[in-house]
Amino acid sequence: MCGIVGYIGTKQAAPIILDGLSKLEYRGYDSAGMAIFNGKTIDFKKATGRLKVLENLTKGGTETPGTSGIGHTRWATHGAPSDVNAHPHFNEQGTIAVVHNGIIENYLQLRKFLKEKGYNFQSETDTEVLAHLLDYYYKGNPMEAIFKMLRRVQGSYALGIMFAEHPDVIFAVRKDSPLIVGQNEDGCFIASDVPAILKYTRKVYYVDNQEIVKLHADHMHFYNIDEEEIEKESVFIDWDANAAEKAGYEHFMLKEMYEQPKTITDTLNPRIKNGNIEIEELNMTMEQLQNVKKMHIVACGSAYHAGVSGKYVIEKLARVPVEVDLASEFRYRDPILEEGAMVVVISQSGETADTLAALREAKKRGFQVLGIVNVVGSSIAREADNVLYTWAGPEIAVATTKAYSAQLVALYLLAMKLAQAKGTIDAARMHQLLGCLERLPHQVERLLNTKEQIQKFANRYLAAKDIFFIGRGIDYAISLEGSLKLKEISYIHSEAYAAGELKHGTISLIEEGTLVAAVATQPELYKKTISNMVEVKARGAFVLAVTCEDNKEIEKAADYVIYIPETDPLFANSLAIIPLQLFGYYIAVGRGCDVDKPRNLAKSVTVE
Ligand code: AGP
Repeated sequence: MCGIVGYIGTKQAAPIILDGLSKLEYRGYDSAGMAIFNGKTIDFKKATGRLKVLENLTKGGTETPGTSGIGHTRWATHGAPSDVNAHPHFNEQGTIAVVHNGIIENYLQLRKFLKEKGYNFQSETDTEVLAHLLDYYYKGNPMEAIFKMLRRVQGSYALGIMFAEHPDVIFAVRKDSPLIVGQNEDGCFIASDVPAILKYTRKVYYVDNQEIVKLHADHMHFYNIDEEEIEKESVFIDWDANAAEKAGYEHFMLKEMYEQPKTITDTLNPRIKNGNIEIEELNMTMEQLQNVKKMHIVACGSAYHAGVSGKYVIEKLARVPVEVDLASEFRYRDPILEEGAMVVVISQSGETADTLAALREAKKRGFQVLGIVNVVGSSIAREADNVLYTWAGPEIAVATTKAYSAQLVALYLLAMKLAQAKGTIDAARMHQLLGCLERLPHQVERLLNTKEQIQKFANRYLAAKDIFFIGRGIDYAISLEGSLKLKEISYIHSEAYAAGELKHGTISLIEEGTLVAAVATQPELYKKTISNMVEVKARGAFVLAVTCEDNKEIEKAADYVIYIPETDPLFANSLAIIPLQLFGYYIAVGRGCDVDKPRNLAKSVTVE
């Protein structure tokens, strides 16, 4: 996600901002910029590409003198990476500057409102609406303009704001996206994360939701959304710099697992309005959706596993047949795409060679392609006809977790939208499904908080040679991903099987003590999966079951049970995968593996 750094004090601001942004590079970005008050006006520099480009452009900040400023590294969400889309963004007079991390969910409505008021926009970003909205409300008092702006804005935001007419202060605002402020003898600081200012101070204040901070050179004031001044407790950071990049987590993978509730929220909320699903990015009318006769989902690895899960959800809700292909197979099997087919490719990086080739193969045959992609402006995002972004933010760990979870909820939205168009679900069912989606983030958080229990169980299997995952229907899709998570970071051999397949060969591999993880989240399949559990148990297996809280029957067939909270069976994948991610993670940690950078693997497989 984006990085924000701000400074106001007695030192030159630009070098401090550039240094702070360099400590946030791990968050992933595609462009950078900064605004500095030079004594008269707000000077700014922006550049696409690495931070080095901005550093060179400003000669390490010496070309932009001034003792107050705000800087930004941009992870694109709305608008491809470009100089004009880079932050900071300004009002038309260039007297108000804003940097932003997050997603303004109602930016289209605000953009329309401001255009009707005569405002002109330079960029494609959601952020620019904030600069013009502040201008619209600014009558000389920055705090008044900020409070009024906040009452109009929906979404997640961490903001740094400057007003040329008030050079003795800078402002920080936070809702959902992380933001801290700090102070030392030379000034006050704003930052998205601790690493950016650890060099200058270990005494920080975590800005809470809907708090506004007014930073002067030698002191700060904190306010709540009701415009009341509040007191804040400071926190002393005793992390070392390396730990700080992971926000105190031992690995990026664990940090990203813990970001899943926000990832799910950020992917769902902008597409659910007034109890309805609106996916503008589909660019398909209800009639076009009604005419979809078959869907082809094409992807690799975990994205493929999300697609397998999506198949079950889409077929169940929309009654549209779905074929899921590995991209490396699809591209060479001369696929049969019939009229009325909808092709969907899924990719976190948007650069996977096989998936890109599959997209081109489908387009060569005259079919429109929808991309479900995480990296804005990536090759697949640029070449797809339409893009449904997963807005998981940059994923650093090679083993995907939060992007995979975002892919799942993107597919749920697609399934529900298609079902609505097909008339295969009524308003009551839509309402019930939306209620389940709304509860997912909190339920994921609850499961993440069972990590000690999972770690204790995982430590019993550090020396395992083979671990099998079995399930039926969506549980098979969950097994595929649970098995991949384990093997790609712990190097333990693992396989996932449709539970009904065991007796066709694999069961011969089961020995005394072999761990078999049975996923049973689909009530109409409980009995069938339990019978498979009994089969492997009879041959010596130790059976770990992942099931729903209401499934007490399973306890007679399992040796260890992990329960997931109640949700619609179609969304159970989003919950059951959490303990399996943690299981794979703690086995890898226990085995001393390089969790974030497993051997032989790359975060993006850009070669065949
Ligand atoms: C997932 O943990 C793996 N790193 C890998 O399977 C990955 O999902 C696959 O390479 C697809 O990558 P993409 O989503 O960036 O296309």
